Amino acid sequence: MKKIKVLVVGSGGREHALVWKLAQSHLVDEIFVAPGNAGTAELATNIPIAAADLSALFHFARNNKIPLTIVGPEDPLALGIVDLFQAERLPIFGPSRMAAQLEASKAFSKQFMQEVGIPTARFGTFTDYKAALAYLAQVGGPVVVKASGLAAGKGVIVCEDETAAAAALHQIMQERAFGAAGDKVIIEERLTGPELSLLAFSDGQTVVPMLPARDHKRVYDGDQGPNTGGMGAFAPLPDIEPTFIENIAQSVLNPVVRGMAELGTPYVGVLYAGLMLTPDGPKVLEFNCRFGDPETQVILPMLESDLLTIILACLDRRLTPEMVRPRSGACATVVMAAPGYPGPYPKGLPISGTEAAAALPHTQVFHAGTRVEDGVLVSSGGRVLSVSGWGDTLDLALARAYAAVQQIQFDGAHYRGDIGRVAMSKLLGSGGF
Ligand code: AMP
Ligand code: GLY
Repeated sequence: MKKIKVLVVGSGGREHALVWKLAQSHLVDEIFVAPGNAGTAELATNIPIAAADLSALFHFARNNKIPLTIVGPEDPLALGIVDLFQAERLPIFGPSRMAAQLEASKAFSKQFMQEVGIPTARFGTFTDYKAALAYLAQVGGPVVVKASGLAAGKGVIVCEDETAAAAALHQIMQERAFGAAGDKVIIEERLTGPELSLLAFSDGQTVVPMLPARDHKRVYDGDQGPNTGGMGAFAPLPDIEPTFIENIAQSVLNPVVRGMAELGTPYVGVLYAGLMLTPDGPKVLEFNCRFGDPETQVILPMLESDLLTIILACLDRRLTPEMVRPRSGACATVVMAAPGYPGPYPKGLPISGTEAAAALPHTQVFHAGTRVEDGVLVSSGGRVLSVSGWGDTLDLALARAYAAVQQIQFDGAHYRGDIGRVAMSKLLGSGGF
C-alpha cells in the first residue's frame, strides 16, 4: 500500500501520543500537526493553525491534498469539522457534528441513553431555574449538577447535599459561570464506585474496545483538591476480566453505535465511555467523542496494532475485533503540571532533563503544553508533560514513569505521587470487579 500524509489536529499530550504512534506506522509518509507542541515538532511538522480554526484547517488539508485528518480535541468535532471536510470528500477521522453531541450536549446524551436503554444515573434536564430548584427539593440527597454544553471539563459539580446543589444551580443558571454551556442543566443522582474509561474504535456499525484505563482527575494525592483535565492514568485495570469488558461492550458501546445509526447519524471515530462501577453494575457518567487525555498516553503504548490501519478500516466500514490487538503488561503516565494548575499558572518556564528522561528504557515523555523559545524548551500550558512508562506489570510501569519524572525539572512543577496506587486499592477494596 502507498504511504500517506496525515494531519493531526490538536496540541496536547494526547496529540503527541497520536503522532508518536503514527510515526511508527509503515503506512505513514509525513505527519503534520495543527498546531502541535515542542514534542510533536520532533516527529512531525507543526502548522500554526488553531484546532478550532476549521476553515484554515480545511484549506490546509485541501491545498496539500492530505488523504487523512485525525482530530484530537472535542471542540472542532462539536463545531462540525468532519461535516466540513466530508462535504468536499476530504477523508477525516471523527464523528460528525450531530454524532459529537454525545459529548457536546449532556442533555442529548442522557436522553439518548434513556431511549436506547444504556445504564446511567437517574436525571432531570432543565432550562428553567425555578423548575430545577423544585426538582432538587423533590429528589433531595446527594446529586451531581452538570452544565449540558462543553465547559472544558469544569461544568460538573458533585454536591454533598441540597444546599450545595442549590448553590451549583445558582452558579450555572443565574451567574452563568459556564456561559451558554449552562443554558441547559442536568441534575442527576450521585453514584458511587470506582471509575473506568473505556475507549473504542467505531466504524459506524462495528465497535471494538481498547484496553480499559483509569484517569486521576483530582489534582492532589489521595484524590484531594479540585478536578483537572487528568493528572495521570494507567491501563489496563487490574482484576478486570475480559468478559467484564465484553459485557460493557454489549450493554453500552453496541447500543450507542446501533442507536446512532438508527437516528441517521452513524458514529464513526473513537467513542469514549466514562463509567462508574456501581454496586448495581457499570453505569455511564458521560460519553466523549474522541481519545481521552491522558488515557491516550497509556493506551497507545499498549496497542500492538498499527493505528493507521485501524483508522482506515473505520473510514471504510471494515473494522474487525482482530484489528485491535493490545500488548501484554501495563502502562502508566504521570502528568507534570505548572504551579497553580488547575487554577491560573505561569507560562514560559524553562524545562530541563527531558533528554535524560527520554534515554531511559520503556519510557516516553509526551509533551502536553510546551514550546521552544529561543532554542529553549519552555512550558506553554497547565499540563506540561505526560511521562509514560511501561513493563510487564503495573508496578514496573509506574516505577519507570516515576524514574523518568525524577529526571525532569521546571520551577514549581507538581505531579501526583500516587498514580495507580489509590485507584488500585480502591478497586481491590470495592470487591467484585
Ligand atoms: P463527567 O465530565 O460527566 O465525566 O464528570 C466528571 C467527574 O464527575 C466524573 O469523572 C466523576 O468523578 C464525577 N461524576 C460525574 N457524574 C457523576 C455521578 N452521577 N455520580 C458521581 N460522580 C459523578
Ligand atoms: N481524561 C478525561 C478526558 O479526556 O476527558
